[in-house]
Amino acid sequence: MAKAAILSGLEQPLEVRDIELEAPHAGEVKVRLAASGVCHSDLSVQNGTIPLPTPIVLGHEGAGVVEEIGEGVTTVKPGDHVVLSYVPQCGNCYSCKRGQGYMCEKAGAAVTGGMLDGTSRVKDSDGSNLFVMAHLGTFSETSIVPEISVVKIDNDVPLKLASLLGCGVQTGVGAALNTADIKEGDTVAIIGCGGVGLNAIQGARIAGASEIIAVDQNETKLQMAKEFGATTGINATEKDPVSAIFDLTGDRAGVDVAFEVIGLQKTIEQAMQITRRGGETILVGVPRLDVNLTINPAFQLVYTGKTVKGCWYGSSNVQQSVPMLLDLWKKGDLKLEELISRTISVNDINEAFEAMKGGEVARSVIEY
Ligand code: APR
Ligand code: ZN
Ligand code: ZN
Repeated sequence: MAKAAILSGLEQPLEVRDIELEAPHAGEVKVRLAASGVCHSDLSVQNGTIPLPTPIVLGHEGAGVVEEIGEGVTTVKPGDHVVLSYVPQCGNCYSCKRGQGYMCEKAGAAVTGGMLDGTSRVKDSDGSNLFVMAHLGTFSETSIVPEISVVKIDNDVPLKLASLLGCGVQTGVGAALNTADIKEGDTVAIIGCGGVGLNAIQGARIAGASEIIAVDQNETKLQMAKEFGATTGINATEKDPVSAIFDLTGDRAGVDVAFEVIGLQKTIEQAMQITRRGGETILVGVPRLDVNLTINPAFQLVYTGKTVKGCWYGSSNVQQSVPMLLDLWKKGDLKLEELISRTISVNDINEAFEAMKGGEVARSVIEY
C-alpha cells in the first residue's frame, strides 16, 4: 500500500489516497520514493495540454531507494539509490545506439499510461487499475518502474536534490549543453524562467555564454534568473521582449541562441524573431497539440540561415548525463538546492499546482 496523488479526469483536483502495488514484473523495479518535483508537465496533464488517460498517478521527476527487483534485473539491487528518468532509455535500440537515448524506441508506450507493455501495476482502493505518468507516477510513496527508467547514483547525494535530475534539470541544462550549439562568448535569450527555464539559464552559463537575457512576466522569476546566471532581465508585462532584445543586440539584430521554455504560440514566435541570422531557436516548452505556426520559409529559414530545433528531454542520454550533472553540482557549477522554492507533503499537491499557475515557485518538491 502507498499513499498517492491521483488525477481522476480533466481539470479535476488531485485526490490523495492509498493505492495497491503489485510486485515488479520482469525488467521492473520497485522504488520507495524519497522525493518528487512538481513540474509544469504534471499541470499540463491536468489541463489537457498533454493528453493522458485517467485516472492516473501523476509525477515524473523523482528519486528514491530500490526496494525490490523483478526477474532479470541486473543494473540495480535493493538498497541502491536511483534517479527516475522521465524518459526510459534502453541503450539497445536504433536511437539509443545513435546517441539519442532521449528518443528511445521503448519510450512511446508512455502514452498508454501503463508500463512498457501497456499494462498496469497499480490499483485504486476499489480494485480498479490506475494509469501512471511516464511509467513512473512519482506522486506516490512507492512506485513500480521499468529498469530502463532508473539511473543508479551514489548514496551520498541527497535524494531531494537528485529528484530534480529526472526532468527539469535534465531538460533545461540539456537544452543548453546538448540540443543547442552555444559557443564561448555567445549571447543567448531564455523566454520563460520557471523550473526548466532557470536550468536552461544555468546550462547556458556552463556552456560559456557571456550575455544571458532572461524574459519572464514575473519579477520574482527574473530575480531568480539572475542568481542562475542571467545578465539581463526583461519583464514581458512591461516591454515588448522582441524590440527590447533588438535594442540590446544592436546591428546583430538578435541573439545567437534563443530558448522558448513555456510552450505558447506567442512566445515561440517571439523566440524565432529574436534569433539572429544564422542563429538557433530551441523549442523546449511543450505546446498544446492544437498550436500551429505559420512560417515564411524564405525569410525565416532559407535567406536567414536560421535553425529551429525541438528539444525533448534536453537531448539527454541519462546514464551519462546524470553522473555528469552530479559532478557539476559537486564542483559548485550547477545549482540544485536553489531550485527548490518549497518542500511539501504529497497532501499539499493541489496548493503546489496553484503556486505553479501563479508563477510563484521554481520548484515545489514533495518529500516522502
Ligand atoms: N511571457 C513570459 N513569461 C511567461 C509567459 C509569457 N507570456 N507565460 C508564462 N511565463 C513564465 C511564467 O511566469 C513562469 O516563470 O513562464 C514560466 C513557466 O515556468 P513553470 O510554470 O515553472 O514551468 P516549467 O516547469 O519550467 O516548464 C516549462 O517546459 O517541460 C516543459 O511542460 C513544460 O511546457 C512546460 C515548460
Ligand atoms: Zn517535467
Ligand atoms: Zn532505446
